[in-house]
Amino acid sequence: MEVILTEEQIKNKVKEIAKKLKEEYKDKNPCVIGVLKGSFIFLADLIREMQIDCTLEFIRLASYGSKSVIEEEDVKIMWDLPIDIEGKDVILIEDIVDTGHTLKKLKEILLKRNPRSLKIVALLDKWERRKVNIEIDIIGFKVPDKFLVGYGLDYNEKFRYFKNVCGLTKEELERFGK
Ligand code: PRP
Repeated sequence: MEVILTEEQIKNKVKEIAKKLKEEYKDKNPCVIGVLKGSFIFLADLIREMQIDCTLEFIRLASYGSKSVIEEEDVKIMWDLPIDIEGKDVILIEDIVDTGHTLKKLKEILLKRNPRSLKIVALLDKWERRKVNIEIDIIGFKVPDKFLVGYGLDYNEKFRYFKNVCGLTKEELERFGK
């Protein structure tokens, strides 16, 4: 596996993002929403760096088949938020943006619920794969179009626990495939 981002690079970036968010949200008690499952490690590190009062919630989307065929209409909510976000300052946390379909649809769904504000934060941006235009407020790293694992990201549910982000080769994709 090829290391794409080291633990140290990620740590520094998380600190940098947390600092920005802290300044903006320290008196706002924001509602921080993680998109499961991939974002859980980034989110955990981010809120511990932010050190401000916030409500923590999660949303889980249903994914259908292989990533490359996901379209916006395929993005459905599997586990919805248990709370009403109307009037709240929402920070949505994603691990990676690929085609952009997930975020575009999720943004639409959340905005219909009338939050006071909505900020989108994504650690990784696989920008070369973008299919739809989506504005992301904070991006950690632009990453190459490789299959990435670690720091929450998986391949067939493997490797989420890696402390760095790695790219898998073709051989590794075959070896660790179903
Ligand atoms: C990943 C990621 C985003 C989505 C991005 O989730 O966490 O939610 O894909 O892809 P898109 O920009 O092409 O829509 P995944 O489906 O791998 O689920 P997981 O987080 O549960 O592993």
